[in-house]
Amino acid sequence: MPPAFTEYAHQIAGRSNIVKVFGDHIIKPTSLYEVNSYLKMTPLIADVAPDCCLVMSNGKLQALRPCGFCSDSVNIHVIIQVLNATDAEHFLVMRDVAHGMIKPRILDLKLGTRTHSDFISEEKKRSHIQKSFSTTSSTLGLRLCGAKFYENDGSGKVKISKTEGRTLSDTSFISQMSTFFTICGKQKSLVTKQLFRIKEALEATEAQRFFGSSLLVIVDDHLGHEFLEKTVKVKLIDFSSMARSEPGEPQYVGADRGAIFGVSNLINIISD
Ligand SMILES: Nc1ncnc2c1ncn2[C@@H]1O[C@H](COP(=O)(O)OP(=O)(O)O)[C@@H](O)[C@H]1O
Ligand SMILES: [Mg+2]
Ligand SMILES: [Zn+2]
Repeated sequence: MPPAFTEYAHQIAGRSNIVKVFGDHIIKPTSLYEVNSYLKMTPLIADVAPDCCLVMSNGKLQALRPCGFCSDSVNIHVIIQVLNATDAEHFLVMRDVAHGMIKPRILDLKLGTRTHSDFISEEKKRSHIQKSFSTTSSTLGLRLCGAKFYENDGSGKVKISKTEGRTLSDTSFISQMSTFFTICGKQKSLVTKQLFRIKEALEATEAQRFFGSSLLVIVDDHLGHEFLEKTVKVKLIDFSSMARSEPGEPQYVGADRGAIFGVSNLINIISD
C-alpha cells in the first residue's frame, strides 16, 4: 500500500475494511448499491451524511462533491493507484468525520426497527428480523453496534462490540447511553441539535427507507479547540441496505417512521 494510505484507527463497526488517506479522508470499499445511494442522494440527506468527495463504481472514478483536495489531479492519481491495487470494485472517498479530533469518543447506533435490505435471501431476512425482534431495534429503533471512548474517571478505554450491543435491554441500553453521553452540557446540546437536523431531514424524505443505516456520533473529549462546534459531529451513515422505491423495486410511501422513531428516542434519552 502506498505511504499516503494507512489503517483507519477510528472504525468501530462494520465489515468493510476502511483506510485513511491524506490525513482527512477515508476510503470505504462498498457495494455498487451504496455507491448509487450516494449518487442519487437528495441534498437534504447529503447534508446530514458524511461529505462524499468521489465514488468509484465498476472501475470508473466520478467526482460527487469533491473538496479542494479531491479536485487536484495529482491527488486523484494517487487515489486511483490505490483503488486499482485492491480487489474491490466500488468505493466511497469520504471526509473522515473524526478528522481534527484529538480524543474522539465514537458511537455507532444502527437505526430503525427494520434493518434488512429488500435485496437479500429469505434466510438472511429471517435472521435480520430475529435480531431486530430480540434487541432494542424493535423497542427503541436503535441498536448499539459499536462504541469506543475513555472513562471520565481515568479508569481506561471502553470498547463495546456489536455482539454486546445485541444483548442490551432497553434499560441497559439507556444506561450505556448515559455513560457515553457524559460530556459537557454544551456538547450535549450540539449533539441534540444535530439529531434534530437528522430527524427533520428524515421527516422530509418520502419514499425512502434507511434500513441498516446508522447514526455515527463522534465527540472530542479534548476541549482545547477554538470552536466547540468542531468537537461534535453526528452523521447518518451506511446506505448499503436502504430502499429507494425505484421502478421495479418495492415501493414505500411517506417518510421512514422506524428511523424517525430511533432518532426521536435518542433525543429523549439524551435529554432525560
Ligand atoms: N465518514 C466517516 N468518518 C469517520 N468514520 C466513518 C465514516 N464512515 C464510516 N466510518 C466508520 O466506519 C464504520 C463502518 O462504516 P459503515 O458505513 O457503517 O460500513 P459497513 O457497511 O461496513 O457497516 C462506522 O461505524 C464508523 O466507525
Ligand atoms: Mg454499518
Ligand atoms: Zn475530498
